[in-house]
Amino acid sequence: MTSDAVTGNEETRDEPSRTTTAARGSGRVVVVGSINVDLFARVARHPRPGETVLGGDGSTRPGGKGANQAVAAALAGADVAMVGCVGDDAQARVGLSLLRRAGVDLGRVREVADTPTGLALITVADSGENSIIVVPGANHALTMEDVADLGLTTGDVVVLQGEIPVDVVDETARRAVAAGARVCLNLAPVVDLAADTLRAADPLVVNEHEALAAAGLLGVDAGGHEEESIDAVAATSLAEALVGAGVRSVVVTLGGAGAVVALEGAESFTCTGERVEVVDTTGAGDCFAGTLAARLALGDDLGAAAAVGNRAAAKAVQGHGAQESYDWEGRS
Ligand code: RIB
Repeated sequence: MTSDAVTGNEETRDEPSRTTTAARGSGRVVVVGSINVDLFARVARHPRPGETVLGGDGSTRPGGKGANQAVAAALAGADVAMVGCVGDDAQARVGLSLLRRAGVDLGRVREVADTPTGLALITVADSGENSIIVVPGANHALTMEDVADLGLTTGDVVVLQGEIPVDVVDETARRAVAAGARVCLNLAPVVDLAADTLRAADPLVVNEHEALAAAGLLGVDAGGHEEESIDAVAATSLAEALVGAGVRSVVVTLGGAGAVVALEGAESFTCTGERVEVVDTTGAGDCFAGTLAARLALGDDLGAAAAVGNRAAAKAVQGHGAQESYDWEGRS
């Protein structure tokens, strides 16, 4: 499959301006999220309900949206700490392997007794599109106590997603805001977060479907848009409606078509995507979010950070798996 380059509906940016590191970011990213082991099967096409299909290659790889984002942020140059839980099983080693290699601080990763490490069952079709079932396991053992004392400070970027308990996401966002840190919230999978958590996001990172769901959670009129029909124009109006409902900033990812950026008091714009051969989209959205968070922590503005995130995600879809497909060049 080839993904197309973007056509922007408003201002379209290739290489937006950057601000200096000293001005805004601490260079530190704290990811509070899931750590999984991904069990992959390649298939010609995804099975229909009740159908059995024969798979091609199978593999076991490190994954989890939180861990993927942490690895991506570290590879993008940030100083990254991971907060999460793994089981007391052999899979934990797999789940943590590339976090270790990327130099992520694992001092706040807790091992939970008698509980399996999170597991994701993933089928990837010839089109590169995946379907994923996550069995949370130890990820759901994360508690308020785990996020009570993260030592957050102004300029830190805290990355959150939906594979850990909802109350822990809400509490972490509340603490981050109180500490003056920036919240980067990836509403994936969609979970029922408090409206205050969604509004604290700066940015809220969503794909088209998640943008619609976020509108639902905030009681925002989605303008009659349906999942199948969201293009860059519709994504922009949705993103602007979310900002209008109090979300600090919104980035809607559109795959190869780039990403729409909306923030209060400024014109929305589209960052261009890249035309690449897609092998496997697994973890590409996480790569985008983690890279974007790193660039924000290093002082980029949102447009510049999204542009770098787009390039990182374009690289990620050209390889197999999540973390292994990221840009490890220059790392041993
Ligand atoms: O976004 C991809 C990730 O979703 C996979 O690595 C899997 O573990 C699930 O969390």
